[in-house]
Amino acid sequence: MEAQNSQFKTKIGLIAATLGSAVGLGSIWRFPAEAQQNGGGAFLLVYIVCVLVLGIPVMVAETALGRAGRSDAMGVFKALSPKTKWWIGGLFGVVTSYLILCFYMVVAGWTLEYLWSSITGTLYSSGADLSRAAMDATYHSRMEEYISSDSSPLIATWIMIIINIGVLLMGVQKGIERCSNIMMPMLFVLLLLFGIYSISLPGSAEGLEYFFKPDFSKISWGVVGNALGQTFFSLSLGMGILVTYASYYPKSTNLVGTSVTVSLLTTVVAILMGVIIFPTVFSYNMDLEQLRGTTLVFVTLPEVFAQMPGGRWWSILFFTLLLVAALTSTISIGEVSVSFIQRRFRKSRIVATLIVLLPLFILSALCSLSFGSLSGVKIFGENIFNFLDMFTTNYLLPITSILAVLFIGWFAPKGVLRNEITNGGRIMGGLSPVVEGVIKYLAPVLILIIFIYGII
Ligand code: PFF
Repeated sequence: MEAQNSQFKTKIGLIAATLGSAVGLGSIWRFPAEAQQNGGGAFLLVYIVCVLVLGIPVMVAETALGRAGRSDAMGVFKALSPKTKWWIGGLFGVVTSYLILCFYMVVAGWTLEYLWSSITGTLYSSGADLSRAAMDATYHSRMEEYISSDSSPLIATWIMIIINIGVLLMGVQKGIERCSNIMMPMLFVLLLLFGIYSISLPGSAEGLEYFFKPDFSKISWGVVGNALGQTFFSLSLGMGILVTYASYYPKSTNLVGTSVTVSLLTTVVAILMGVIIFPTVFSYNMDLEQLRGTTLVFVTLPEVFAQMPGGRWWSILFFTLLLVAALTSTISIGEVSVSFIQRRFRKSRIVATLIVLLPLFILSALCSLSFGSLSGVKIFGENIFNFLDMFTTNYLLPITSILAVLFIGWFAPKGVLRNEITNGGRIMGGLSPVVEGVIKYLAPVLILIIFIYGII
């Protein structure tokens, strides 16, 4: 299928697919881990402010860029300013998305393993009869042992790559729209149910307080920097994803409305995850400090399931939906590079898909093994996986996002931004100068300040 000719069929399909890309392991796996490492409620507060003040405007800027340029993440810059070097900004996005994909695929693999062991029952074979402390230790060491073994996580990662190749070869509408239309609402409902369950646990109040009551003394520039990185990660910003997706949007799509809807719904998912995880951790008296961020969700949730009536079935349902959430995200991020290769180098979809995904068999393997036999390989004191996660999220995403807002706000042909925000003057009325002002002035300045103080 020619990517250029594909457009999303329905408005709901478009929002669902964009949401499918946004809601992924970032909100479900990464958010609780970041919240835990950055002071709980303090992090939540800063994260919400970052989403509202920076996430939404950057999303409007990126979708405007995509729809105006109607090309891949790099091509949009060339289409709008052919004789300049701005395309380098787009190339940055493509590279960033690819680096993220390398370690993200590994977490998708972990999800697959947890689904599989829920189905076979091995995840719960000893669970329910154990004491709390023993159960804690069991699930903790299970995850630690699993990721530090070499072969199983690697095979799971490879299976995920193969599944991605399959879906990407089917093309934009068929592959992505169908999956996310059904699964995303289901995931929402499921998280809501788990959230209610978790709040009903004895002693959950302490966890809710930890998550919702900000301890202002914990807010530092470092926390703000991490919250900004998490904002970009969870909303799929700075990765070329939304630029690429928006190049398939019809002219009638309300970009501001879509950005607000997608950002808020994604944030609700992240908050729901906090509501599920932290009351549980406190209710079960788990040692929050001991739970390594990366493994938090995979240790906590099975413990919940082990004690829920019908837990194994809940577990199967949850990890299935999480896997789909991960898949819609990997597909969307893979689409950035596939569309890039297809359009830049005039390759067929099949060839482009293979060029993009085959090297991952090696690159993701390096990330997977970085908890196992490559754990001794350190880059700036971190293993390969953690380094890539930190470097892409905290450095590359903000840089790519700044370039996108600066370009569309200041350097793209005059009127492009306004035209995209207002759909040629038909919507938004008096609000459009405000949105434009935020994109031109507030967003780049704030991101730069946070970047300088919070990250560098
Ligand atoms: N917003 C997506 C998420 O939170 O999962 C971002 C993403 C990251 C999408 C990595 C795809 C991906 F491979």
